Amino acid sequence: MKHYTDSSFLITTKEMVDLLNGDLAREYQSIIAYTSCKLEKYAEEELTHALKIVEQIKELGGTPTAMPEPVPTLDNQVDSLLAALASERETVAHYHQRINQAEALQQTALNEMLHEIMAEEQRHEIDLCWQYCNALASQPKGSKSGAILAQNAKESAHCDQEK
Ligand SMILES: [Fe+2]
Repeated sequence: MKHYTDSSFLITTKEMVDLLNGDLAREYQSIIAYTSCKLEKYAEEELTHALKIVEQIKELGGTPTAMPEPVPTLDNQVDSLLAALASERETVAHYHQRINQAEALQQTALNEMLHEIMAEEQRHEIDLCWQYCNALASQPKGSKSGAILAQNAKESAHCDQEK
């Protein structure tokens, strides 16, 4: 059965389960990535997200995936932080879409859970943005100074929210 509130987010329960399984695979990916670069607090929060999504998939009658999205292998802190930042941005965009779809599906509990997760993902995104800029600023000076690199990074990463 199709549900309507905003037809642009028209979705079936089966489609929602499939989309949530994609979100779950990305949460697993984040857990592995954050664990490997010792960002324990983030890894723990991503695990909480994964568990919440598993519960919602089951509530909708689906089967949670056990497969993570592939985790990129990065050998330095700056690249790891940049990859994590890009991943968080993508995740926030996915959850924004999922919230609209949950609204269209009239799934209030799912909608509330997605809002909670997205708030934490957005905080991760802002924190990572600053960590990335700081990591760049502490790089050895090469052809450009660390400060110039950091400024360029801030501009390209849109670190425009003061902490
Ligand atoms: Fe997450």
